[in-house]
Amino acid sequence: MTIRDEVDQIKPGLTTTMAPFIEDAIAKGELYIHQPYELYSDENHEAWRKLYARMIPRWEQYANEKFLQGISNLCLDPNAVPRLEDVNKFLEPLTAFSAKAVSGYVPAFIFFDCLRNRAFPTTITIRRSDKLDYLPEPDIFHDIAGHVPMHTDRAFADTLVRFGEVAHTAAEIAQGIKDKEEQTRRLSSIIKAMARFFWFTIEFGLMKDSKRGLAAYGSGLLSSYGELAYSLDSPDVQRYPIQLEWVINQYFEIDHYQPLLFVADSFDHVFSLVDELEQWMKDGKLNNVSPGEPEIGEADLRSFLEADFG
Ligand SMILES: [Fe+2]
Repeated sequence: MTIRDEVDQIKPGLTTTMAPFIEDAIAKGELYIHQPYELYSDENHEAWRKLYARMIPRWEQYANEKFLQGISNLCLDPNAVPRLEDVNKFLEPLTAFSAKAVSGYVPAFIFFDCLRNRAFPTTITIRRSDKLDYLPEPDIFHDIAGHVPMHTDRAFADTLVRFGEVAHTAAEIAQGIKDKEEQTRRLSSIIKAMARFFWFTIEFGLMKDSKRGLAAYGSGLLSSYGELAYSLDSPDVQRYPIQLEWVINQYFEIDHYQPLLFVADSFDHVFSLVDELEQWMKDGKLNNVSPGEPEIGEADLRSFLEADFG
């Protein structure tokens, strides 16, 4: 047993791979939780400190201007895992968005509906301090340092709200389909199209930039030390102007750096694409998108079919 393992046994903290508090919440079926700040271990704070320190120069070099403004607006402590209530003190006055602690995976409709209500479901665990690089699941560094700075920008925040409205349109359309088999088939296709759009914009979007040619605004890039530089410097990445018909039909894989990224002109451009996505949905153009990732699970389908508009 290493010293690290011994420390973990004494105080497991709120680590991605080991967090009894989260396991309890999941066992009790609790999705929305509080952030038990006293449970963070020294190692958890150390992980935040290391992650934050190494990202600063990368953000300055590769991040969209609005993101950099967001980082400065949030006044995050570089040395400690953030308290969500502190984050919200700076965030809420700007766009009325707030970070809301969750225990884990949030089914698709519920996630988008939270955005519509200007709440951002936020993971509170953090990766191990000796495994900073690869993590398939979100952690608090991805959610707070990668996503939330963008939520301080009004145009971006409004785009997320608009996306939540589109999820409502999807739920209404799906609930109106009488044939159960056809309902599942069509809804799976619509959610797939929405998930792909979200992935290639909010998570992995690039944007034209007056100073640097291109800059990142997608949170998956902005929370990854390696991929942020790779996404903008590597000759192996294909970077194409964003086109809705391509994005909704493009599968993606989450376990390696993205080989293909899409470039938007501006945040107004992204907003207008969300409008267009909704129109396409209403016109039936999302009903037969190409198969492949992401797979849409039972919980995601159910979240749309059980959505209550009352
Ligand atoms: Fe994310």
